[in-house]
Amino acid sequence: MTTKAILLEAAPKDAVGGASYIRVPLENLPAGRPLPFRLYHSIEGEYILYCGDGKVLKKEERDRLLQNHLTELYIARDDLPRYRDYMDRFLAELLVARDLPIEQKVETFYSLAAGIGTEVMAAPQKPESIASASDVVRVAIALLEGGKEVIHRLMALMGGQYDLVTHSINATNYGLALARVVGVREPRALLNLGLGLFLHDVGLRLLPQSLIQRKGLLSTEERAVLKRHPLLGVELFLPGKHLEESTLAVIRDHHERCDGSGYPHGVGADKLSLEARIAQIATAFDFLTTNNPSRRAVSSYEAVRSMSREQPGAFDQELLRNFIELIGEGRTGPGPKGA
Ligand SMILES: [Fe+2]
Ligand SMILES: [Fe+2]
Repeated sequence: MTTKAILLEAAPKDAVGGASYIRVPLENLPAGRPLPFRLYHSIEGEYILYCGDGKVLKKEERDRLLQNHLTELYIARDDLPRYRDYMDRFLAELLVARDLPIEQKVETFYSLAAGIGTEVMAAPQKPESIASASDVVRVAIALLEGGKEVIHRLMALMGGQYDLVTHSINATNYGLALARVVGVREPRALLNLGLGLFLHDVGLRLLPQSLIQRKGLLSTEERAVLKRHPLLGVELFLPGKHLEESTLAVIRDHHERCDGSGYPHGVGADKLSLEARIAQIATAFDFLTTNNPSRRAVSSYEAVRSMSREQPGAFDQELLRNFIELIGEGRTGPGPKGA
């Protein structure tokens, strides 16, 4: 069946209804694998069947959709369990595919993490979102077992514009890589740290987006509102009790500084967990090396220089030395980050 014919095939009338469909980022649909669920387009509020289950999305077809800025398709809600099984299997396969070149593993991981991250950020406090985020973190932990080469290859992909999803993934990668270097090997500790990093900025979603996207300097009042995001993030997860204390501490303390100059509580190094001190470096480094509404990205070198010289004592010096050694010759992706 040609693409055109597939496009014209209408979904059954009784299946149509906004709440019955779930957005799926195209990044989650790798080429060359049979898809065990139906996919739909959304065209002017109508859901039109794009392909039935068992369809293999060819690379050229996927590329063409992306070229046409079609970055999302939809699945029917009753296909959700099949979709989740598929994603779990795919992530697990990525781990055991020893014959896959490292650059392909890293690229596939980053693309899948971006797709899953988009879903997670839509409702991060839901148990299924935490489960999906945990899957991504476990794969990141396993991949980063490959050492410096893996983080350097990831850094080549982590370029460009700041957004919440990529910032969360990048911070997770940097933090887990640093944790490994300083000897954190206990699976539960790594998972809790990774989850905290993945979810560290979800409180930003609860603030007015006009404030987050604002170019230029913020007023004192606006900065005070922005500084509420670590605690808003923690509060979001408290009712569900799905996150452990060490994960909540990463979310709460990622803007604290060892010299007490951070927020929300201005506590010093003696009150900050190792995981929180790792998160402070990982999140600050990615923020500095990414273009965002308030400032342009700087190079990796300038970022670590700023973190060690212009803010002396703000970051754990021993961890920062390890981090500088870790990122070494690795360079963040094209554009200002790679300068
Ligand atoms: Fe933050
Ligand atoms: Fe952040």
